[in-house]
Amino acid sequence: MFRDGARKSLWQSEVKKYEGFLARGHRYDVVIVGAGITGISTAYRLQNQGLKCVILEASNIGFGTTGGTTAHLNDFFDTTFEETINKFGLENARLLAEAGKEAMQIFTSNVMKNTIDCDFEHKDAVLFATSEEQVEELEKIFEGAQKVGYQMAYTDSIEYPMGFQKALLIPRQAQFHPLKYIKALAEAFTNAGGTIIDNCIYESHDESDQEVLIHTSQGTVRGGHAVFATHTPPGVNLLHFTTAPYRSYAIAFTLNSEDYPNTLGYDLCNPYHYYRTHIIQGKKMIIAGGEDHKTGHSEDEGACFARLENHCRNYFDINQIQYAWSSQYFEPADGLPSIGVLPSSQGRLFVATGFRGNGMTFGTLSSTILTDLILQRPNRFAKLFDPKRFKPTAGFKSFLKENATVLKDMIGDKINMERINSLLDIEPGKAKVVRYGGQAYAVYSESNGQRHVLKSTCPHAKCEVRWNNAELSWDCPCHGSRFNVNGKMLNGPSTQGLERLE
Ligand code: FES
Repeated sequence: MFRDGARKSLWQSEVKKYEGFLARGHRYDVVIVGAGITGISTAYRLQNQGLKCVILEASNIGFGTTGGTTAHLNDFFDTTFEETINKFGLENARLLAEAGKEAMQIFTSNVMKNTIDCDFEHKDAVLFATSEEQVEELEKIFEGAQKVGYQMAYTDSIEYPMGFQKALLIPRQAQFHPLKYIKALAEAFTNAGGTIIDNCIYESHDESDQEVLIHTSQGTVRGGHAVFATHTPPGVNLLHFTTAPYRSYAIAFTLNSEDYPNTLGYDLCNPYHYYRTHIIQGKKMIIAGGEDHKTGHSEDEGACFARLENHCRNYFDINQIQYAWSSQYFEPADGLPSIGVLPSSQGRLFVATGFRGNGMTFGTLSSTILTDLILQRPNRFAKLFDPKRFKPTAGFKSFLKENATVLKDMIGDKINMERINSLLDIEPGKAKVVRYGGQAYAVYSESNGQRHVLKSTCPHAKCEVRWNNAELSWDCPCHGSRFNVNGKMLNGPSTQGLERLE
């Protein structure tokens, strides 16, 4: 199974590429763009409510973040209950706690109902503080949880070897194999009559009172509604300015001992780290993640892996690093995801994004919210996660323009353009952006010296892409579009690749 980077995640080794059914020329009740956990969970639920659904996937299922997640399933969130109380009030924070429980219940029910073998296990989690400052933060997390009635308790011992000052035990979280899960759910979806079209790239859409037309690389698909399960939606939308793309790094390693933790672990460092254990092909491994940063804003992505590995080697007796990979997620401006009608839509287009590090939970929860909205049924979480809750102070157009200008200036200042003659200086395996005749080019030199030259301007809103030396991709620092060395689009919201010069 392929994913959106040069590195393999540990999940890819066990699940082959899913071969979907190619079906065109039909009108569907709902067209779902994107076959990660959000798209597949939503399509599965809608199809089982009697709607005729199609999933359009640009590559293969799990190509994006679902193939690169560390697959923690939590009903507490990166945005704490205390923060939610402060921003949205106590009642909404309670609702958030209930949303977590509901997501967990939906996931469990999907697994049970379809007898999905995806290494699903309930696990307790520990959240630990290693400094005075972190202890204060931990205590606030506990107080917030108390206020909303969420169960967690202080504990004197944790399984992790970090010296901690205070820790919380959070019962009944979960972990699983993300690709095994979505593959089985995709099969349940197609068994129920749903259609998946692989290698079908979204290009544009039209929305009318009656229907939506989704124009793709394989032709136009008609639907009553459409769901963009693509993180941020394609095109230019308010959501691109209220959610920011981030990269997170993960490694999987074996130990020289049998001291594998049985709980999920989270520290409160900045950036924070997260841990768990999984058995892949008979080999037990710890999966550790962290070193997050805004996409396109690291000078050296490879160094993020080195920092994560060094951090882990300080505490674990590592035998061998087996896998190292990174993936992308989106941070919302106010801490909560956007799940519902797409801003600027007439009501037939839906979106689910801004999940922070809780993509498996919110991706699952999206299935019930979107299903209810499409079927025009009430949903108690819909208002809290309404994507239209963001209100730009100026008019929408000037808001977009202002942001685009700021970003363009920012990128223009920071990027180190070089003259085209320095193109010749690019060492094998290296990349840089060079300027020639008023145009900037993204150039990558393969180890055999072959050069790939692309126009470096992101087709989405004209920011300049930057090299990601860990995943060998060109990443846009503005809204997270990513491209491989040939210019092929790996992640939206761009709907096109970078122009290639032969
Ligand atoms: Fe928006 Fe590149 S992703 S400008």
